Amino acid sequence: MTQPTAPKTAKLTFGDQEIELPVMVGSEGEVAIDIRQLRAKTGAITYDPGLGNTGACQSKITFLDGEKGVLRYAGYPIEELAKKSSFVEVMWLLLHQQLPSASQLSQFTHDVTYHTMLHEDLKALFQSLPKVGHPMAVCAAAVGALSTFYRKEGPTTREQNWIDAVRLLAKMPTIAAYSYKHSIGQPFMYPRNDLGYASNLLHMMFGNPCEQFEVNPVHAKALDLLLILHADHEQNCSTSTVRTVGSSGANLFASVSAGISALWGPLHGGANQEVIEMLMSIRDGKRSAREFMDLAKTKGSGVRLMGFGHRVYKNYDPRALILKQACYDVLGQLGAKDPLLDIALELEQIALSDSYFIERKLYPNVDFYSGIIYKALGIPVDMFTVFFAIGRMPGWISQWLEYQSDAEARITRPRQVYMGSTTRSYAPADKR
Ligand code: ACO
Repeated sequence: MTQPTAPKTAKLTFGDQEIELPVMVGSEGEVAIDIRQLRAKTGAITYDPGLGNTGACQSKITFLDGEKGVLRYAGYPIEELAKKSSFVEVMWLLLHQQLPSASQLSQFTHDVTYHTMLHEDLKALFQSLPKVGHPMAVCAAAVGALSTFYRKEGPTTREQNWIDAVRLLAKMPTIAAYSYKHSIGQPFMYPRNDLGYASNLLHMMFGNPCEQFEVNPVHAKALDLLLILHADHEQNCSTSTVRTVGSSGANLFASVSAGISALWGPLHGGANQEVIEMLMSIRDGKRSAREFMDLAKTKGSGVRLMGFGHRVYKNYDPRALILKQACYDVLGQLGAKDPLLDIALELEQIALSDSYFIERKLYPNVDFYSGIIYKALGIPVDMFTVFFAIGRMPGWISQWLEYQSDAEARITRPRQVYMGSTTRSYAPADKR
């Protein structure tokens, strides 16, 4: 929430003590009370489960205003980037918070194209895992395993971090595609350097060594858009995880591997898979849209309207708005129809006119419509969250790099309010 004029300090009365805490204002007018001296001055800590009121860092990468439904990467509105940019350019933008010059873009495109191959020994890792394993687990393992191939001792330099960043951006599509090929028992497809980022990913996913695979340009363009929209989202669960792991000095691959695991959860990136499964269950007549909505509103039912609600957006997620239109565009260009889109529209219409959702300000988030496009591109449902992870990669890496060069960064170590037993004496087992 932004405030036009913020006071320079905040006064806190605590018992008979009054303390003054500095106030900081971000470049978009966001106001934060700097509580770093709170415990030293009062002995008290703050209590904020889920950290909804806690700023853990300063950042120049992404701005979002959840009340207004605004999202910008380094100042550039997501709507403009979605229309005019490419995923590779957005990667650079996030990493440098500047758009690249033509020569920088050309060099960077070359770099993320020529680091796509995996070490041959890494294939054995995929082959050693059960085919039925979820590909997010496989990808987290493979990304973590990269640190065994690019091992470093001690602190790393900016140059080393940059090389690792390029490696990870380049290799993630290969890792993702290998995780899929392994699951269906097909040979791994080597990357092709004559293809763009999204086209190469589709080639590795759907090509086979027996014939030339022609990438459908509509598919490649739609995928590029999806990747742009997922590229960063400031301090969400997986990004904070990447920063937290990195705060201990762990390397980039280890930190990002943890981010992949955090993204997997159904309340975060895993929601895109859950949404499509929810839509399919309605399509297949297991429940009507109305029945589903009633359950989602019932406390204790364990059902939520997946793809709806967001910790920060209390308005339409701008990415969902772009994706809703993209569903029409992509299905139209492919000459395809999908009843799941009609079901999604029906659910949205019910929700947006229902007092439960209105009062709680629950709107579609990025995951609500993305699955319909992934499905139109032929991406298997199990792989949806993996594609989210490919998109989020530049965000994780940029945030990790920013943390490494942040003079105020400290190891992440929250406190707690202990509510357990006070001191007691140990009794042997036969005396308890
Ligand atoms: N369906 C039904 N009710 C919901 C939903 C939903 N999707 N989301 C929130 N609510 C309700 C909660 O039950 C709660 O109601 P109450 O005040 O009566 O107790 C209220 O709205 C506030 O919800 P919280 O869970 O406290 O909100 P929080 O900010 O902690 O959670 C979250 C946000 C996890 C995204 C939640 O809205 C949710 O579970 N949505 C469905 C999963 C989803 O789509 N996740 C993807 C998010 S985007 C992303 O991570 C890429």
